[in-house]
Amino acid sequence: MNTATEPTVSYNYKVVRQFTIATLIWGCIGMSMGAFIAAQLVWPQLNFDLPWTSFGRIRPIHTNLVIFAFGGCALIATSFYIVQRSCYARLPSDTVAGLFFWGWQALLVAAVISYALGYTTTKEYAEMEWPLAIVLAVLWLIYAGLFFGTIMRRQTSHIYVANWFYGAFIIVTAMVHIINHLAIPVTLLKSYPVYSGATDAMVQWWFGHSVVGFILSVGFLGMMYYFVPKQVNRPIYSYRLSIVHFWAIISIYIWAGPHHLHYTALPDWAQSLGMAMSVILLAPSWGGMINGMMTLSGAWHKLRSDSILRFLVVSLAFYGMSTFEGPMMAIKTVNSLSHYTDWTIGHVHAGALGWVAMISFGSLYHMIPKLWSQTQMYSMRLVNLHFWLATIGTVIYIAAMWVNGITQGLMWRAINDDGTLSFSFVEALDASHAGYIARLIGGSLFVLGMLLMAFNAWLTIRQPAQQAAHNTIPALHPTEV
Ligand code: HEM
Ligand code: HEM
Repeated sequence: MNTATEPTVSYNYKVVRQFTIATLIWGCIGMSMGAFIAAQLVWPQLNFDLPWTSFGRIRPIHTNLVIFAFGGCALIATSFYIVQRSCYARLPSDTVAGLFFWGWQALLVAAVISYALGYTTTKEYAEMEWPLAIVLAVLWLIYAGLFFGTIMRRQTSHIYVANWFYGAFIIVTAMVHIINHLAIPVTLLKSYPVYSGATDAMVQWWFGHSVVGFILSVGFLGMMYYFVPKQVNRPIYSYRLSIVHFWAIISIYIWAGPHHLHYTALPDWAQSLGMAMSVILLAPSWGGMINGMMTLSGAWHKLRSDSILRFLVVSLAFYGMSTFEGPMMAIKTVNSLSHYTDWTIGHVHAGALGWVAMISFGSLYHMIPKLWSQTQMYSMRLVNLHFWLATIGTVIYIAAMWVNGITQGLMWRAINDDGTLSFSFVEALDASHAGYIARLIGGSLFVLGMLLMAFNAWLTIRQPAQQAAHNTIPALHPTEV
């Protein structure tokens, strides 16, 4: 328990608050963009015949904003919060932290403008052209300096497991970003990769899957390891399992990239290796999910009254579901049906909405009142309403995409006795229309929840302080609560 000898440290919460607000704003914009492109797939007229409002340009704006702006700011905010509180140490420099915040926001704005204008490397999730990619690399190294600098200043003997996950996320993101972006610039806003053909594809999906693995999984697992025990007010179920989980997941994820390139020019052995590693990945993924879930042992009744805990637990359930689905989709015969179809989009959003966004919502709802010296969110009823909108929205979204995906896969492979195709592509598209309408409804419910959260946060922030400024209170270590 908290002892009288525990050091009292003043933490830099300003930068955590800044990144928290940025998460909410980018979440509203990025997810609205998702709903907009979902509407374009229902009513193509919404492309307005303008290049910068076309699906091809808005789609990467959506993906970059939800991953690097919403997800990125949520990860940075929580990592700075956790690393300071669990190390009893302040970030090494307030000035650098402030510059990093504004630099990150400027980079995101520049990326959105460049995509709208059509400047893109065309590599998915790595669309930034070389000047922006260099800025990202420099900012990321500054982030690494702030995070690891705090760990080096720690006043605790050990490093809490959440920090291990954040640390791996920071190191691997830097590594894959820099290697995948090695390119030869030909003009100020155009470059060509140093790799060619299948090698380029392999490096790109080594990067792409590491975005899934180290940003969307390992980073958010760091969040899980701190906020689930905190919200339940119990230590993590098994600290030993968390260490096994950490080493297993980081050593396996990096090999799974080739499952994005099944039945391509990539050598067959590489595809099989990617498939095998993906199937093995089920074990550490579920180890982490079980560790989070079991932390609630003996405290399940709290779910009845605690909406924040519901977000955290349901996010773990979606994590378990998408990390079961992913390994199945990585099996080559299954992938021959699912690849190129909406099944992939359903899998992505089971992970993105159900896991990434839900764990972020739960963590931010836990953190916001503490950051602004409040006892709780302004309206817990709105938190509860948000929970239901997000859960129902996610279920509608992914169910629609499963039905669409399997329909498309089966229609594309159906052949007549004479070997000709039974259905044209347009017929499969026509069969998908109802699913696109359902996805738009589910996605819009999810966006509505996000808007409610931003509104609730704004009401919380503008209330007069209800408790002592939080950054002078000694932190409770998550293993000791
Ligand atoms: C809030 C509601 C959301 C809606 C309505 C939505 C909608 C969409 C749509 C329509 C697409 C294009 C699908 C296609 O090309 O056929 C898409 C792609 C994508 N979205 Fe979302 N999205 C939402 C939230 C999110 C969130 C929160 C994340 C991540 C944290 C996310 C990550 C992605 C990714 C990674 C892709 C690319 C998938 C791929 O290429 O396989 N989305 N989204
Ligand atoms: C054990 C864990 C997982 C495995 C083995 C796995 C496997 C797969 C497979 C096989 C695909 C389809 C590749 C294709 O046919 O093109 C895929 C796509 C994808 N998965 Fe997962 N998945 C896992 C977990 C997750 C999680 C937790 C997320 C979080 C959001 C996620 C996000 C994505 C994204 C964004 C794509 C689309 C990539 C693209 O084509 O743009 N996955 N995954």
